[in-house]
Amino acid sequence: MPDKVSIFDTTLRDGEQTPGISLTVDQKLAIARQLDKLGVDVIEAGFPIASKGEKEAVKKIANEGLSATVCGLARVRKEDIDACIDSDVDMVHVFISTSDIQIKYTIKKSKEEILNMAVEAVSYVKDHGLKCLFSAMDATRTDIDYLIRIFKAVEEAKADVINIPDTVGVAIPSYMRYLTSEVVKNVNIPVDVHCHNDFGLAVANTLAAVEAGAREVQVTINGLGERAGNASLEQVVMSLHSLYNVKTNIRTEYLYETSKLVERLTGIRVMPNYPVVGENAFSHESGIHTHGVVQKPDTFEPGVMTPEMVGHKRRIVSGKHAGMHGIEAMLKDMGYRVTKEQLKEITRRVKELGDKGKRVTDADLLAIAEAVIGEVSKAKKIVDLEELAVMTGNRVIPTASVKIRFKDKYLVGAETGVGPVDAAIRAIRSVLKEVEDIKLIEYRLEAITGGSDALAEVIVKLEDSKGNKATTRAAREDIVMASVEAMVTGINRIFLMRED
Ligand code: KIV
Ligand code: ZN
Repeated sequence: MPDKVSIFDTTLRDGEQTPGISLTVDQKLAIARQLDKLGVDVIEAGFPIASKGEKEAVKKIANEGLSATVCGLARVRKEDIDACIDSDVDMVHVFISTSDIQIKYTIKKSKEEILNMAVEAVSYVKDHGLKCLFSAMDATRTDIDYLIRIFKAVEEAKADVINIPDTVGVAIPSYMRYLTSEVVKNVNIPVDVHCHNDFGLAVANTLAAVEAGAREVQVTINGLGERAGNASLEQVVMSLHSLYNVKTNIRTEYLYETSKLVERLTGIRVMPNYPVVGENAFSHESGIHTHGVVQKPDTFEPGVMTPEMVGHKRRIVSGKHAGMHGIEAMLKDMGYRVTKEQLKEITRRVKELGDKGKRVTDADLLAIAEAVIGEVSKAKKIVDLEELAVMTGNRVIPTASVKIRFKDKYLVGAETGVGPVDAAIRAIRSVLKEVEDIKLIEYRLEAITGGSDALAEVIVKLEDSKGNKATTRAAREDIVMASVEAMVTGINRIFLMRED
């Protein structure tokens, strides 16, 4: 195995060819910046000949001063390559079909003509002083002798890298290993692979190619791409790092945030059970698993890949499979300390809800815990909201002023924010700062009913400077008031914990 593999990201090219995705210039630029932060070696920014907007996006990315090599895609045609050159890219990725079926039905030229077109295109790119990557499209369905002949010819024309695409995702790992090793034996330039996921084998095929000598892999964030997509960057990179002990330049701690950004901008949701970055990738519900994970996470996680390594979080979730250890850990994280009896009763009610076919959310667990334990009594309130006024509109900066009672003192102050909720939360935190710096570490808003008068449920997670945490909820028709109420309840819980 090599020490290191180069990561060629094609989220902005093949990934954007996912049915239903069309990114604006600014969205493509935002993703490119994030890919650069992530540490990919090459960003395939797009197919400049495809449209005016595409060319503009590629040009902007190429002139953004990124550390990654910026690449543009081109058919083996002068006008396509010129569009790449005009877009100021560092590298041109030229491709042509080489399989019999694609030659017969799409290219309709002789194999000799195709070979000459490939060589001419590579030479044209090199004459312009740019790096050149050559792809033999549908390589895994191409006659091997012809494939090697064309790769040797483009090597002679000074191509920098050659790529073996499994265009329709039909290769199996043993074939990918064999094909790659045959190519590697016959050329002296780096070999790259590009695997599609039609049979769910894209990651396995990519790794098999690395085993056989490929030194660069083409991947996409969230496995986006034509049809069933391409090999997922997250899965390939983490397998290389954690299972093969092969390095890449990827800063893996940014994988989750990159996945989320791409999910948000493309609108393509990541499945919860998606490896590495899916919401359930490090979530545990069953009693047996949570019991183990609470003691030592490696009992029911790979160990060689932790949520911290990929910028994700471990979650214990409640449901009918939950056990007391898991529920206790969740409650502790929410700031509750419960007796054995209370824990038994909370677990019983969670399972009962789960048996009714209901997904037990954090809010449900909170509601059950509050019912069983009994909420902070009025008399025990250390902090109370006396007055709140919020101003918002199209010509004002959202501003909130608050008066808070803390024990027998009144604290008054005002803050601005990006919106009324932000202003109110900032105002509360700011007046309480003279007593304690309470941080808001999570905020979630859900509409329980439909319509503009929907009941809004807010869940907040707070933490003080000593690491005491509290998760609380409130449901109201007024989002600002629901947020403030959840905050005040949480602050009370933290102060009660400190007094204990
Ligand atoms: O799948 C494919 O063959 C491609 C080429 C352009 C490399 O995306
Ligand atoms: Zn492709």
